[in-house]
Parts: sequence; C-alpha cells; structure tokens
Amino acid sequence: MRKKVTVVGAGNVGATAAQRIHELGYADVVLVDIVQDLPQGKALDMLESGPVIGSDALITGSNGYEETANSDLVIITAGIARRPGMSRDDLLLTNMKIIGSVTAEVVKYSPDCLIMVVSNPLDAMCHHAYEVSGFPKNRVFGMAGVLDTARFRTFIAQELDVSVEDVQAYVLGGHGDDMVPLVRYTTAGGIPITELMPQEAVDRLVTRARQGGGEIVALLKAGSAYYAPSAAIAQMTEAILLDKKRILPCCVYLEGQYGIDGLCMGVPVKLGGGGVEEVIEITLTPEEQAMLDRSAASVRELVDVMRKNQDGDAKAG
Ligand code: APR
Repeated sequence: MRKKVTVVGAGNVGATAAQRIHELGYADVVLVDIVQDLPQGKALDMLESGPVIGSDALITGSNGYEETANSDLVIITAGIARRPGMSRDDLLLTNMKIIGSVTAEVVKYSPDCLIMVVSNPLDAMCHHAYEVSGFPKNRVFGMAGVLDTARFRTFIAQELDVSVEDVQAYVLGGHGDDMVPLVRYTTAGGIPITELMPQEAVDRLVTRARQGGGEIVALLKAGSAYYAPSAAIAQMTEAILLDKKRILPCCVYLEGQYGIDGLCMGVPVKLGGGGVEEVIEITLTPEEQAMLDRSAASVRELVDVMRKNQDGDAKAG
C-alpha cells in the first residue's frame, strides 16, 4: 500500500509541493484548503497528469479533514504569504490562528502522523504546531534550513562556477534573515569555501542567502517564493517516506542542544521514517554561539508574543 501524505494549503507552496510529491509516484496525496473547490480542481488537474508522467499515485482535494485520516505525513502550508514590505513577523498572529486550528484537525484524524510545518514565520509556527499537537518532539518539525542552504548553495556554485551538486552548506538558527551559516563547514567538493573565495565574497553570499526570501518577494510583487520551497519539501518528504536517514537542517524543538531549551530552531538532524531521529550537535566557536543565541532570542520574542496573545484570548473567552 502506498504511503499517504496530506498537504494543507493549496496555494503556491502547497499545490507545487503536492505536484512534486504526486510526481514521485510512491505516495497518495490529499490536498486541503478552505477555498471551495480549489483543492479539488488542482488535485484533479494533477491526477490527470498521471498517465503522461507515469504516476499511479492518487491525488484528491478536500475542504475538510475526514479524507486526510491516517496520513503518514501532513505538510502545513496554510496561511497568508508575505507581501512586499511585510516581514515574516507581520504574519505572526494571523498565521498562528490558522496553524493552531489546522493542527488540531490534523491531530484528530491522524494521531500517529508526522507534521512538517512550512508556514511563516517558520520557527514560531513550528513551535505553535508542536505545542498544539501534543506530539513527541521527533514528530513535528519545520522546513526552512533545506531552503536556506539551497539558496546559499546556488550562490556559491554561481560564484565558483561549479556544479550545485558539489556544494554543501551547513546552517543553524532561525529561518532567513536570522540564519546562522557555519561557513567553516560549507564546502565545494569537500573543500571549505573560505579556501576558494575571499572573505568579501563569503560575506556577500551569506547576506544574499539570508535575504533570499525577500529578494523573490520584491520581484514577484504579489506572493512569495514557492519553487525552491516546494523542492525542499519534496526532498524532506522523500527522506521520510523512503526512511533515508538524511542529514538535513530542519527546525525542531530543542531541549538543551546548542544551549537552547524549550524552543523550535533550525539544526542539522537525521531525518527518516521516524521523523527527526537525531539532532546532530557540534561544538560552536564563541562567535557562532553568539549568532545562534541572537537568533534564538528573536524566535523567543515571537513565541512570547504568541503566548501573550493566547493568554489574552483565553481571558477574553
Ligand atoms: N485552512 C486551510 N487552508 C488555508 C487556511 C486554513 N485555515 N487559511 C488559509 N488557507 C490557504 C489559502 O486559502 C491559500 O490557498 O492557504 C493557502 C496559502 O496559499 P498562498 O496564499 O498562495 O501562499 P503560499 O505562497 O503558498 O505560502 C504559504 O508558506 O512559505 C510560506 O510564507 C509562506 O506562510 C506562507 C505559506
């Protein structure tokens, strides 16, 4: 029997991710959205691509959660996307309400699933989904680091005029502007990039990677990136469904690792059939630790805002 993957949110990121997963061919997909007929229409269109691309996987759309029952993996992309001039943090409270209600439905119908959070601001949304789900920490994680490293790897490969396949990057911390690149572990063909380009170039590429999401938003004008994000989602999905145990940077709930306690942050993990099977820890230099601590502080600020808002909601209710 094929595995079952639910994608919540049939917008740019969700629909493109659903398409990529359907095209892999080894998982049935349910696409969910609140907009009437939208997920049904997109799913039927993708299903009808099956004979051409050679995928026998099923893909269906729904406005409810019954059809999602017993999913192995649920990917949450619902929410509003960033508009020009809007920071990820502006999205906080709107997306928090959406992610909270979606997570509660998901858990009701798929109590044993893994949850991959994609909606922004990513680290805070992952934290919220983790708390609302009540799942163990290996079963709730966020997609951010694979995208951030993909952007960084693209720019490094361009700069060095080498294959993207030979460039590996290592990042920690919050998504995007807050990412902490570990340049000494970022390599081309196994060689640290600091050996291959001047510091000025390293700094320039780090800055561009950190602002990579904003660069796309400014160009698209309406909406944010979705081709690279959906590719990152598909890679993580494959690592899980095929139990590949890949080492990928993911956002996970930390309990003391890297000196961070009780917060979801991006770290390298072993990702396989059990979700986050291990957090991989290395010793940081004082400078790297300071950058990571700053990143953690800004995620914690968002989590505190969410907490105050929940308390407010509880009092008002
Ligand atoms: N339940 C299900 N779907 C919802 C809900 C909800 N409660 N609220 C909104 N949606 C749907 C919208 O109807 C829309 O189809 O989520 C979809 C979001 O799609 P887009 O607006 O196209 O946004 P997208 O570019 O896909 O980004 C989604 O991913 O990368 C992040 O920052 C991005 O948080 C954003 C998310």
